[in-house]
Amino acid sequence: MDQPGHSRQSPTPLPIIAVASGKGGVGKSSVAIAIGRELTRNGRRAGLVDADIAGPDVPRMLGLRRDVPARTVTLAGWARGGRGSSGLEAMDVGGLKVASAGFLMAGDQGLALGSDLGDLMLGRLIKETNWGDIEALIVDLPPGISFTQQGVLSGAGRVATILVVTPAEVSHLDTARALSTLREVRTPVLGGVENMAYFECPCCGEKSELHTPAPEERTIWAGGVERLARLPFRPHAAIDPADLAPVLKAVAAHIAA
Ligand SMILES: Nc1ncnc2c1ncn2[C@@H]1O[C@H](COP(=O)(O)OP(=O)(O)OP(=O)(O)O)[C@@H](O)[C@H]1O
Ligand SMILES: [Mg+2]
Repeated sequence: MDQPGHSRQSPTPLPIIAVASGKGGVGKSSVAIAIGRELTRNGRRAGLVDADIAGPDVPRMLGLRRDVPARTVTLAGWARGGRGSSGLEAMDVGGLKVASAGFLMAGDQGLALGSDLGDLMLGRLIKETNWGDIEALIVDLPPGISFTQQGVLSGAGRVATILVVTPAEVSHLDTARALSTLREVRTPVLGGVENMAYFECPCCGEKSELHTPAPEERTIWAGGVERLARLPFRPHAAIDPADLAPVLKAVAAHIAA
């Protein structure tokens, strides 16, 4: 069977870990980047796809910048060349291979695609990027989950999901909707990350909750998602990889499965 863009000729499908949420701004990109970096630091050959077509934040968060707009971005034209001839090289960021719709646009250029076209582009990014010899792919998803998007992902490899929420009720409610879509399409959920949950005072160490927490019965935890990490709000060092240890363990188990 054809393997997505990566060059290894392995009979096993590429493990894909999609970082998702029903809500925007909860830390999906931060968590996806932290997972990618930690995998790389631990000697795994990992790729990271920025699938947020409307707001591709990964390049900026990694300090990458493109100033020249792509002259023509037509999905059909891109597809015509076939795999490997798209000219889309993953960028190597400290060993982590990165592909982003942001590489096709200048810093302030917009790419207004409907969600289905966005999903199509996600498929192209995964399949036509020259990834080299990667063992796993992390996908930083935009807010919300659609059937077509999940179809694209499961067509590209063996997908599992990490969900990101804040403790707020709306975050849980919207992510519970995403969870029901994932369950309908039988995409496994490895667990959840509760991000920006509290602030620890640097002077006295006192912890303050940052949100009115959702009633327990309305959380995704009550819905059967394992809470793998509860992360503080850290103004300067957003995500401390040490806090993600249980997440990395679940990711490693998915890669090994
Ligand atoms: N634990 C944290 N502590 C402090 N700041 C954080 C933390 N997690 C994320 N942030 C910051 O919050 C903002 C939103 O995070 P991020 O972009 O990762 O969220 P997102 O869910 O990917 O957003 P979007 O839905 O827009 O793609 C960023 O500025 C990020 O640096
Ligand atoms: Mg994001």
